[in-house]
Amino acid sequence: MQLTSEKRRAMPIPMFPCFVTLLVFGFSSLASAETHHLHWEVSYMFASPDCQEKLVMAINGQFPGPTIHAKAGDTVVVELKNSLPTEGVVIHWHGIKQIGTPWADGTALISQCPIKPDETFVYKFQADKAGTYFYHGHYGMQRAAGLYGLLIVDVKEGEKEKIKYDGEINMLLSDWYHQDIYTQMVGLSSKPFRWIGEPQSLLINGGGQFNCSLATNQGINKCNMENMQCAPMVLQVLPNKTYRLRIISTTSLSSLNLAIGNHKMTIVEADGNYVDPFTVDDMDIYSGESYSALITTDQHVSSNHWISVGVRGRQPKTPPALAILSYLNNNSQYQLELPKATPPITPLWNDYAHSKSFSYKILAAKDTPKPPKRADRLIQLLNTQNKIDGFIKWSLNNVSMVLPPTPYLGSLRYSLKGAFDQKKPRDWFGANYNVMKPPINPNTTTGSNLYEIKFNSTVDIILQNANALAENVSEIHPWHLHGHDFWVLGYGEGLFRKKDVSRFNLKNAPLRNTAVIFPYGWTAIRFVADNPGVWAFHCHIEPHLHMGMGVILAEGIELVKEIPKDAISCGKTAKMLMNNHG
Ligand code: C2O
Ligand code: CU
Repeated sequence: MQLTSEKRRAMPIPMFPCFVTLLVFGFSSLASAETHHLHWEVSYMFASPDCQEKLVMAINGQFPGPTIHAKAGDTVVVELKNSLPTEGVVIHWHGIKQIGTPWADGTALISQCPIKPDETFVYKFQADKAGTYFYHGHYGMQRAAGLYGLLIVDVKEGEKEKIKYDGEINMLLSDWYHQDIYTQMVGLSSKPFRWIGEPQSLLINGGGQFNCSLATNQGINKCNMENMQCAPMVLQVLPNKTYRLRIISTTSLSSLNLAIGNHKMTIVEADGNYVDPFTVDDMDIYSGESYSALITTDQHVSSNHWISVGVRGRQPKTPPALAILSYLNNNSQYQLELPKATPPITPLWNDYAHSKSFSYKILAAKDTPKPPKRADRLIQLLNTQNKIDGFIKWSLNNVSMVLPPTPYLGSLRYSLKGAFDQKKPRDWFGANYNVMKPPINPNTTTGSNLYEIKFNSTVDIILQNANALAENVSEIHPWHLHGHDFWVLGYGEGLFRKKDVSRFNLKNAPLRNTAVIFPYGWTAIRFVADNPGVWAFHCHIEPHLHMGMGVILAEGIELVKEIPKDAISCGKTAKMLMNNHG
């Protein structure tokens, strides 16, 4: 079967950025940081990401949204116009710390008010550190509606990238539902509960195939390739080069595994931090994570290779996504044949040992800052699935998160009374909790309370997994912290005990912004609360967050500079602004 090279999503990056950069910027290496000024408009549009038409949330008519390229130290300014007909919107810059600009974090009702239809909000922030990041909607389940894109930060002008490579390829992974997010949200908060089920397809750079597989051996229908829209993405490469694959997951639900036929991957970056390089045949990636993997195009130019992306941790009902790695051949043409070999089969969905062994291999690169020797505070968060009057929720220490109508950042900064629940949430809940069994008393409460963290203190958080409501079910949850990187100090099975502190890795703990908890296990993280603001810490699975799986942290509020009025012109802060300024 023949493929043409000009199909949608064929995103060739066969060029060598260093060369181009030299030409363009060769004479300006002393130039200081740049400002990238972007005008974006969010709207609904019709699109067929997996060959079935539906509404997607697009930016400037593109899905996924435009890729932002910046250098460390650059300023990014995004003037975001909301052209959704009747709903608010915000965009979160995942992995960007927002040092000094906590109001630009883009979390609705946490760091800012939702931007109203037809209004414009200006996000202005610094790209603080080189790495692979992304952005996405952070209001309701708008991320799952397709509101996302890449944010790639290169090393500072004049600095040398530590990793050596000849070209870059970006792979933005997501999962896709045919049901709209409103039906999903209402179902999740209905009685009886209506679960969203498994996604219809997995997308690579916004494209995939629904209800079929290009691989004939997958037990699914073969794809009709006449519709060029449904053709697989082709990644064009030159032979005998090293490529940096930037792999990012913004899935709503799925944990993923990625494998490339006949090519090993050397993992060099995780969430914007260099890691001690290690080489694997396949890699796991959870929602909210990003990796850079180096591959060497050392295979014979006469054949192409499959890239498979499959589901982990849930019984898959979604066909694997496939892309093609296409070599430039001796006639200076890209191979347009489908690969002859069968696509690599990603590991069995419930092979948790395989997933754990991948996570355990991620360790810090040599010059990564080390964690402080000890923490000032230990917060243990018991992750449970619960019920409130028959509605199913996720809770932390028996509180299921609901957001208040006034964003915390403003109400805290201006000490407004009664803007959210004042009761302090607990640092621990389940000393005698049996994490192996469903909750004995599944009743929980909702709350909009927050964890106040002493500025500049060191905090350990133990994410404690447990059995869900049904017997013998415990799920994967990737936890993401806003405003910080944290050290992943270790993982364990069963209930965390104080003595487990002695097992913490203080030597080469990796820095990350997202960490997974495995079924029935715990994960320990440590961070320094040195970034004034209000920060969400939550499960990155969209339906779980919607069901309350998160907490709010606040630190150094008195050090927050004057908040732009646009960010807090709603709820109680709007009233305050009116009273102050007549
Ligand atoms: Cu990428 Cu609060 O999330
Ligand atoms: Cu979760």
